[in-house]
Amino acid sequence: MKAIRISEFGLPKVMELKEIDRPIPESDEILVKVYASGINPVDLVVRAGSNAALSYNLNLPMTLGWDTAGVIEELGNEVTGFQKGDAVYGVPNFPGEGSYAEYVAAKASRFALKPYNICFNDAAGIPLAALTAWTAMFEFGKLKMGQRILIQGASGSVGGFAVQFAKSIGAYVIGTASADSFNYLREIGADELIDYKTQKFQDLVKEVDVVLEVSSVRDNNERIKSVKVLKNSGILVSVNTDFAFNEEVIHALDKKNCKGELSANQARTDWLEEIGRLIESGKVKVPQGKIFALNEAVEAHNLIESKSVNGKLILQVREQS
Ligand SMILES: NC(=O)c1ccc[n+]([C@@H]2O[C@H](COP(=O)([O-])OP(=O)(O)OC[C@H]3O[C@@H](n4cnc5c(N)ncnc54)[C@H](OP(=O)(O)O)[C@@H]3O)[C@@H](O)[C@H]2O)c1
Repeated sequence: MKAIRISEFGLPKVMELKEIDRPIPESDEILVKVYASGINPVDLVVRAGSNAALSYNLNLPMTLGWDTAGVIEELGNEVTGFQKGDAVYGVPNFPGEGSYAEYVAAKASRFALKPYNICFNDAAGIPLAALTAWTAMFEFGKLKMGQRILIQGASGSVGGFAVQFAKSIGAYVIGTASADSFNYLREIGADELIDYKTQKFQDLVKEVDVVLEVSSVRDNNERIKSVKVLKNSGILVSVNTDFAFNEEVIHALDKKNCKGELSANQARTDWLEEIGRLIESGKVKVPQGKIFALNEAVEAHNLIESKSVNGKLILQVREQS
């Protein structure tokens, strides 16, 4: 099968289209015939040499890509709940062998049936970002109906899902983003918006139950400002797990009896199913990605690194009818 492999870490050009053996699923795995694979910021981090949190888990050569949609080709003998031919979406093997490939074998528990009303390309942009938002907001942030949440980076792939999930349970959503994204954020239900380029959120927001840091910013001074806008006993959740809370942030949290959490996404069938139901009911809209062919992975990564593109980029691996 064809796969985009890296044999060394470095610039996008280290990604090469190779012919490799098709993987064989273990007893608890499914073999997915990949139709599309989403590109996420972490793909670029791994390709470039990774970070301390991930590097111990990586073996070269390897295939990137941890967001996929496709059709089940084979099932391991212990897999239940799926059938050959099912259209599925999920997060394979993070951070192991990924889905920039014609096939990927991965634990069935990291997949669910693809929402019926979206195509494979759209589905491939969902699992990692949506599960990141879901895990952070509900598992760590404990967000409930009627609570107030500040979403830092509401316009990103993770942020867009976070806004919609929070609205789906009846929370009040304040988002920070650049003003270019305000129309999109109003359409998906954000209640208040703050332009991080021209406004200071810490002067405009107070008494929130949860601050969700899903922006690309890694700055503990910004986190201190986030603690300032939390209610006593509120929760600050960051998905930027590679960037720890420093002593000042921990002290500020303690003084207000608040909690600080670093949240890594958890890939679970039941959460993907719930996310799928929200998409099928129309409560959650999926942004359309910019499509590249599998052999254009280098161009796609170059484009993201040049910061000349917004939104999700998708590698289409197979033609879709
Ligand atoms: N822990 C996990 O499991 C996990 C999984 C996936 C991703 N992540 C992390 O989650 C973060 C977001 O990922 P993503 O895929 O959503 O990235 P993305 O689509 O590139 O979004 C990043 C967002 O950050 C916003 N931003 C930049 N500077 C900001 C600032 N000063 N204040 C507020 N927002 C700002 C941008 O807003 P504008 O475009 O409006 O300027 C952009 O929408 C990344 O840091 C990524 O590493 C973690």
